Parts: sequence; structure tokens; C-alpha cells
Amino acid sequence: MKIAVGSDHAGFELKKSVITWLQDHGHEGIDMGPYTEESVDYPDYARKVALSVADGSSDQGILLCGTGIGVSISANKVKGIRAALVFNPEFATLARQHNDANIICFSARFTDKETIEKSLHNWFATPFEGGRHQRRVEKIEPCC
Ligand code: RB5
Repeated sequence: MKIAVGSDHAGFELKKSVITWLQDHGHEGIDMGPYTEESVDYPDYARKVALSVADGSSDQGILLCGTGIGVSISANKVKGIRAALVFNPEFATLARQHNDANIICFSARFTDKETIEKSLHNWFATPFEGGRHQRRVEKIEPCC
């Protein structure tokens, strides 16, 4: 799959290892920046990744910032995006199974590389369950 990957300065190092993990596991990781460790604003990169998923240029996205909170809030402002902040592999499974999440967000400061990789494994191995979850996901719409 084609996966858009972005971060801020806090997620910069882990973004590199996520892209390597994607390549090692048969995916195409598109690095949407930043490209240096300089301090940046996470909404700029979250929006780039979210727009790429929303317009179909990428199949899914991965975002990292210090807590993962800023990138997930920002990505979820884009119509059609269901960005899930994931702390462990079980969250990754449920985000796909129940929420049909299309962007996975991580905290670069509170989640280690091994947990991120196990979470990515589950994320890509888990399909959306549909059924009652389909109705719920369809109700996730901007309302005002
Ligand atoms: C940057 O210091 C930090 O605020 C950012 O990475 C993120 O945690 C925001 O949600």
C-alpha cells in the first residue's frame, strides 16, 4: 500500500524508522516531511498527510508528534479522515476493526519503537469489520 508519513520535529527520528519498517514490509512510505530536525508546526504536516489520504493519492497515513494529540486533532479536521491516536497494538487492531481508521497517529515521546512496529503490524493485518460499525462510521460527519 501507498502510505503517506508525516511528523513534526518531535517525531522526526521515529518517522525515519517507520518509513524503513514500511519498506521492509512491502509498503511504499511517502515521506511528507519535515526533512530536517528544525522546529515546525504539526498542523502543516498533518494536513499534508490527511489531504493525501482524502484525495486518494495515498491509501492510508501515519503521523507522529510529541504526544500524537496535535497531529490527530489536525488530521481529523479534513473531511473523510478518521485518524486514531494509538498507544498499543490492541488499539491499532480496534481502530481498523471498529473505526475503519485511515490514519494512525503515534506519540513519539511516550511510545517506543517496538510498540509502534507491533501496532503497525496489527494495523495492516486487520480489516474493517463492517456490520454495525459501518452505520456508526457513516454517522461520523462534520455537523456545524
Ligand atoms: C511540540 O513540542 C509538541 O507540542 C508537539 O509535538 C505535539 O506533542 C503536539 O500535540
